[in-house]
Amino acid sequence: MRYFLAIFALCVLAIVGVLGFRGSHSRQPSLYIFPDMERQPKLRPQTANAFFDTGMSSRLPVAGTIARSQPVQVGPKLVYPWEDSPVVTGRVPGTTNFVEWNPMPVTAELLQRGQQVFDINCAACHSKLGDGNGTPKRIGAMAVVANLHDKRIVGLTDGELFNTVSYGRNLMQGYAGNLPIRDRWAAIAYLRALQLSRLGSLDDVPEAARSALKK
Ligand code: HEC
Repeated sequence: MRYFLAIFALCVLAIVGVLGFRGSHSRQPSLYIFPDMERQPKLRPQTANAFFDTGMSSRLPVAGTIARSQPVQVGPKLVYPWEDSPVVTGRVPGTTNFVEWNPMPVTAELLQRGQQVFDINCAACHSKLGDGNGTPKRIGAMAVVANLHDKRIVGLTDGELFNTVSYGRNLMQGYAGNLPIRDRWAAIAYLRALQLSRLGSLDDVPEAARSALKK
């Protein structure tokens, strides 16, 4: 017991010696047991810094580089990603209703871009035809990949498709982080072209050519 008391007293002295009394003030930074990267040797934005010749920690973008919040060109208008615009949200401004039609002017150039985006990002699962028979279904890994020619999906508004492509749905991941706004609308325009390719009827064919098709 004597030894215990002596060791205990020594421990108390050592701890108080190192850590000090509770409530005492010190000019030293406090003792961090788990610093969790609270202090980092980095430059904070918008602060003074002697390292650069401008005296600021923030730097101007290098000429020719692309800022993250680049506006989207919609016809003659520029739309920024923070605006409440159908281009950004896929919804009628001020409401939660999806817009009926693609707000991008649909041009041959947009469709071409859409084909690229679709073949790179979507075809792996939905197949280049959009029928859902991509690799996951063939190897039996993901049986639920949607057939984009499904009547229900053909009937969805462009705004709702944009929402699915941006934020995903069930097993499908969202593409808001990977695809710029314009590319998502381009993929949707191309998807509509794919769907249309299967919705044609004999009435769409010029009269003169119809008899050849019927054979
Ligand atoms: C990793 C596989 C995968 C990729 C890649 C993928 N999808 Fe999907 N997608 C799915 C699955 C699985 C579903 C079915 C989700 C469900 O359960 O409703 C689906 C559903 C959909 C639907 C139907 C949504 C609905 O309302 O039912 C659309 C439209 C769609 N995808 C478009 C796209 C487009 C456009 C791309 C490319 C940008 C893409 N998908 C890329 C797996 C994928």
